[in-house]
Amino acid sequence: MAAFKSIPGTFDILPDGYTSGGDYVAPVHVWRRLEEVVRDVMSQYGAAEIRTPILEPTELIARGVGASSDIVTKEMFAFERGSTNYVMRPEVTAPVMRSYLQHSLAQKGGTQRLYYIGPCFRAERPQKGRYRQFHQFGLEVIGAADARADAETIVSLRDILERLGIKQYSLRLNSLGDAESRPAFRQALVDYFTPLEAELTEVSRNRLRTNPLRILDTKVEKERALLENAPRLTEFLNEESKAHHELVKEYLDSAGISWIDDPFLVRGLDYYSRTTYEFESPLLGAQSSIAGGGRYDLLSKEVGSKEAIPAVGFAAGMERIIMAMMAEEISEGEQDRPDVFLVALGDAAIAWTFSAATRLRQKGLKVTYDLRGRSMKAQMREANRQNARFVAIAGDDELVSGQVQLKDMAEGVQEALSLDEIAPRVASSPS
Ligand code: HAM
Repeated sequence: MAAFKSIPGTFDILPDGYTSGGDYVAPVHVWRRLEEVVRDVMSQYGAAEIRTPILEPTELIARGVGASSDIVTKEMFAFERGSTNYVMRPEVTAPVMRSYLQHSLAQKGGTQRLYYIGPCFRAERPQKGRYRQFHQFGLEVIGAADARADAETIVSLRDILERLGIKQYSLRLNSLGDAESRPAFRQALVDYFTPLEAELTEVSRNRLRTNPLRILDTKVEKERALLENAPRLTEFLNEESKAHHELVKEYLDSAGISWIDDPFLVRGLDYYSRTTYEFESPLLGAQSSIAGGGRYDLLSKEVGSKEAIPAVGFAAGMERIIMAMMAEEISEGEQDRPDVFLVALGDAAIAWTFSAATRLRQKGLKVTYDLRGRSMKAQMREANRQNARFVAIAGDDELVSGQVQLKDMAEGVQEALSLDEIAPRVASSPS
């Protein structure tokens, strides 16, 4: 039997980076660094972490993300067990809203700022930057209609990108209007495109019936030309939506963020109203969107709330952000390394490594040793491979004298120390 391989569109994250099918998969410490930056910045914004299940009711996603969206019609990993329909979450906004409602988080008062980091699943055709299991971090600000909330989500993402050292990105911004302005725009689009139906692709013809706004999203050259004369959403915005949009832009200006107005930015999920936005990297080719978000004031009602709860947020694709970091040649940082690698010469010393490692670890040091009883040379090679700061060498003589040879790998100097002297010595040396 041939050995098993991971499913296409999924990948292992290993201690070391590797290339698979032309894609570079960064080492795990790069992922951890990204996660640390996300946690740090999120706590600056008063956001608390939320962790929701991978499995959710299929209906939650169908209603939340929208029955006519690509995600729901084509990309869900959904299955049935008994009488329950499960979906592996393709995104986290609808689950966070479900959780907010289920646990009555509104009763805690004020606005909930909730952030998350974790995997999502979409049955898309795998390609560079597009996977079947991918990872998002995101922020959802629930219970706030204020334009500062829209701007704050954008500024927090900018802060994360800057902290990571990503310099090349752009921000596209749009307003989709609200429940009042949208139906009129929708009708205007239908009126405009119906006589042109013969010139549309099958996808857009379907969208004309199910979700005309999504036609604005087309990448087909001929259809983009038709869009030139199509009605513009901005002309349909009511005064409140216009004022909200202007305020968001003012806040962004005051935070020093440049943005591009894009009246065609509708996004692939149906729950948005008013603000929508997307962050793009020019270095990623076809899958250039590193993050997307917007306001979704009507989602709560779609998923069972009696009242509409205003909310806004974003999610960022972690694979794409790491790709952007690599493309900008941001240093990968350092892999975790042992403080001390124990080298054992002889059987007595082999047994000693176990108790010595236990003792040193209890003092807070990172300690490893060779588990295969290999030669001194092989053990030293392993210590080098692991980039150990110190090597402690013990043979029969050392065990009798109670002192081991501690070698500082950077300085090359060696001294005889008792086990209890090792921790203070390691602590006194620059790491
Ligand atoms: P989304 O645009 O579907 O929005 O996904 C957000 C980000 O996830 C994308 O910009 C992209 O970086 C990444 N992404 C999406 N699909 C894939 C994939 N197949 N492979 C790799 N990366 C991918 C949402 O998910 C909304 N929940 C965002 C949001 C939060 N809106 C309001 N709050």
